[in-house]
Amino acid sequence: MGIEAWYMDSSDEDQRKPHRLQPNQAVSLEELKQLGVCYWKLNADIYENDPALKQIREDQGYSYMDIITIKKDTLPNYEEKLKMFFEEHLHLDDEIRYILDGQAYFDVRDKKDQWIRIAMSKGDLITLPAGIYHRFTLDETNYTKAMRLFVGEPVWKAYNRPADEYEIRQKYVASSACFFWVLRDDSSSYMVVRLKRTLSWRYSVGSCCTRPSSWPRDSFRRPR
Ligand SMILES: [Fe+2]
Repeated sequence: MGIEAWYMDSSDEDQRKPHRLQPNQAVSLEELKQLGVCYWKLNADIYENDPALKQIREDQGYSYMDIITIKKDTLPNYEEKLKMFFEEHLHLDDEIRYILDGQAYFDVRDKKDQWIRIAMSKGDLITLPAGIYHRFTLDETNYTKAMRLFVGEPVWKAYNRPADEYEIRQKYVASSACFFWVLRDDSSSYMVVRLKRTLSWRYSVGSCCTRPSSWPRDSFRRPR
């Protein structure tokens, strides 16, 4: 089973509540993919030695990893941080989070600027593309433990909305096609595969944006 996502209501009530529309308007994984949001389900009980996680990290180049516990007693400046996480913002790099325990919500803007709420729970790994406006909150259980992944040295800087002047934002907005090119087996021509694109020419492919590990890395080419 995958994650559940839905369009949000516009109520100012507690951010930790689900904020579903009545009736609920669900958002599929495919729709999330169209926004550049990728998802994997893993077994969080074995995260320390999980070959599936290891493979994803190798394929995607997620060299950095740390673990953050968001809970009143364990996170310094808890209230202040929660408020900060819920400010609408973007990053210059992908945001990659793997929920090891507890639950949380990621909210992302769709292409029409509507909020979509993504309910994350144990075992959910998600990537939000660089340049997408988003925010984060705990749900009413007030606890989550998450792995933060990053390509290279982590940069956590957030740019609060409005941040439309950043090139990354403009590239994200223009990236709705989500296409890229792959060298064909006969080495003579190219085919297009629809997928997630990131701006540093890191690509991923497949049903969950995962490049099959059997594909050689150098079979990926920039579009011409
Ligand atoms: Fe963020």
